Amino acid sequence: MIIAIDGPAGAGKSTVAREVALALGFAYINTGAMYRAVALEARARALDPKTDEAEIAEIGRTHPMRFGAGGTRLFVGDTDVSDAITAPEMGEAASKVASLPRLRAEVVARQHEMGRLAEAECGGAVLEGRDIQTVVFPDAPLKVFLTATDEARAQRRIDQWKQKGHDFDAERALLDVRERDARDASRDTSPLRPADDAVILLSDDLTAEQVIEQIVNLARERMTS
Ligand code: C5P
Repeated sequence: MIIAIDGPAGAGKSTVAREVALALGFAYINTGAMYRAVALEARARALDPKTDEAEIAEIGRTHPMRFGAGGTRLFVGDTDVSDAITAPEMGEAASKVASLPRLRAEVVARQHEMGRLAEAECGGAVLEGRDIQTVVFPDAPLKVFLTATDEARAQRRIDQWKQKGHDFDAERALLDVRERDARDASRDTSPLRPADDAVILLSDDLTAEQVIEQIVNLARERMTS
């Protein structure tokens, strides 16, 4: 079974997707981490998304990315890049490379393969991102669009960054989520939007545990129906 969880920046997708996967014994695949890793490599090679699409797409095709530790760490070869890709500026950098259609085609193909492999190996996968329910797995039996108000999402970002020692004020965090949403939702290729048959969850007034429970219950219902 594939569970597709999409939504805007800071909606709490990662925590929720990871825990849902754990509860069901499924693999957890954080697709945003892959765009972030491509952006990190593009930056190291001083590539510009505006002019170097072919080179960046080639990174998407060949970069030796693999998930470890239950999907919570991302390795490139033997190097754990998880901390580097979650630095505050990498969200914006990932969003810029993610608007390149040729890169998306390469990364989507790899995500599709990872999901199918996980289904074969452990019965299912929870993928979280922006286009999982519309492009990567449009036939997923459970699609959840997890969202929250801009303010709640900005606050979540501030809390996450604080835990990692980065200090950001509320205004900058709000600007960051809004700019990223605007780019992700307005791009020509695979814009962020819920699938027609998605369950929409607004997480403002729910704890992470409540969201996880709702999704696990929905998954169990769909598995038996
Ligand atoms: O989810 P996360 O914040 O790590 O994603 C970083 C960026 O990667 C997003 O802002 C979005 O532009 C891009 N992304 C995407 N499609 C996905 C996952 C992430 O375009 N499936």
